Amino acid sequence: MKIKNIFNILKVLPILLLTLSCDGDSDNDGPIIIPPTRVQATFEMSISPSDPNVLLLDNKTSGIGDFISEWDFGQGDGLVQDLPGIEEVRFDTDGTFSVRLLVSNAAGLTVDSKTVVVDNSAGGICPNGNCGSTSTSALKDAATTFFVGNITRSSRVNAGGKHVEVLKSDFSSITSEYEMKMNVMYPSQGNYDFTAADAIVNFGVNNGINVHGHALIWHNATPDWVNDFTGTDSEFEAMVKDYITTTVTRYKGKIGSWDVVNEAIDDGSGNPLRNSVFKQKMGDDYIKKCFQWARDADPDCLLFYNDYNMASSSGKRAAMFKIVDDLGDLIDGVGAQMHISYNGPSKSNIQAVANGTVSRGLKLHFAELDIRANPNNDQTSLTSQRADAQKAKFKEVVQIYNSIPLDNKYALTVWGLKDNESWLLDFWGHADWPLMYDDDYNKKKAYDGFLEGLQ
Ligand code: XIL
Repeated sequence: MKIKNIFNILKVLPILLLTLSCDGDSDNDGPIIIPPTRVQATFEMSISPSDPNVLLLDNKTSGIGDFISEWDFGQGDGLVQDLPGIEEVRFDTDGTFSVRLLVSNAAGLTVDSKTVVVDNSAGGICPNGNCGSTSTSALKDAATTFFVGNITRSSRVNAGGKHVEVLKSDFSSITSEYEMKMNVMYPSQGNYDFTAADAIVNFGVNNGINVHGHALIWHNATPDWVNDFTGTDSEFEAMVKDYITTTVTRYKGKIGSWDVVNEAIDDGSGNPLRNSVFKQKMGDDYIKKCFQWARDADPDCLLFYNDYNMASSSGKRAAMFKIVDDLGDLIDGVGAQMHISYNGPSKSNIQAVANGTVSRGLKLHFAELDIRANPNNDQTSLTSQRADAQKAKFKEVVQIYNSIPLDNKYALTVWGLKDNESWLLDFWGHADWPLMYDDDYNKKKAYDGFLEGLQ
């Protein structure tokens, strides 16, 4: 009997005594018998952080009364009595095993079972039965005709370690996740702060990694003092011109491209321009003005318009291409944010973004790629099936990108390195695994999907 079972008996003892003492007729009716209820077997398992071939098994069964717990580790050794604390079990041989916990009491037997997959070439026991990628090819070496990008932060490039190691080995382009946006670079009027941006740009330059600037104008990263601007409209416009000129000039020759305007289109019907402070104070052609100032500051820098739902919404896509057409020679490329899911948008809708961009002779940036595996929040872990579906979608996206003509290629940027760093966790508020590395920097099947898309 486990220690915790004794505690459970102690827990019900007062109720039992109370029941007995309240029963005035107990002399006549004999002892009260409380029938035992079944105790449901439950356990949790995890891989040992210190040994990828050791499974940690934690019997979580709880219930009233005495019960017996036994394990079947699925390796042909029969039943083993559960001992107090966590069981550590080695799995050295490749294969699929069924681990079972059998719990019985006077009311009968209950069983909990879980599948364990071991693939030593993938590093040992596969998390959630998911054996990740075993590839040793670096993404940036496999993609020879375009940059493979990812995001970073100044704190991460300054800290070094695994983040920097993976960035350097797999990626040929970086984007600042949030520190090259107006609210960080221009926190108060007249006071620029390029500390974080400089760290990121210098890291790229020093390591021969392309830097994509993101994003000069974005309604969601506009500082309060700009949203609440108190001067005249022409003072506002002069302020924006100074901001764009100062910023683009600072990084002239150091970064390859800028998203000049991000997410200017409304999602609502008709997809009009979002009613941002820039539109209000500078008019509908604020986009053109911003592109002109950026162009003037660094004529060699590629200028992009960047927006989301380009594949899933044909209306938004049309509105985006209208902006692009109006910009004429001021724009070099289209940034299509690829925040998508394992089950959509469809291949043909993603292809439509590529086709529209290529037909205009512009560069295409598949920007901000992450592929949700749990869009409906119906999963608590990344199952093998979802990991396969996610891999297939990564492959599809890369295949579409890799098939466009060379002249239209620029970069495919993934929005995050490892699953637990994805912005989507906060944004949607529930579990997901949208990236190519798991929480421990293991390459997922998605990584193979990326590589296969290049073949
Ligand atoms: C997100 C970052 O990932 C977050 O860290 C930040 O707090 C908010 O912005 N579209 C964009 C990106 O263009 O800049 C956003 O990045 C994600 C949506």
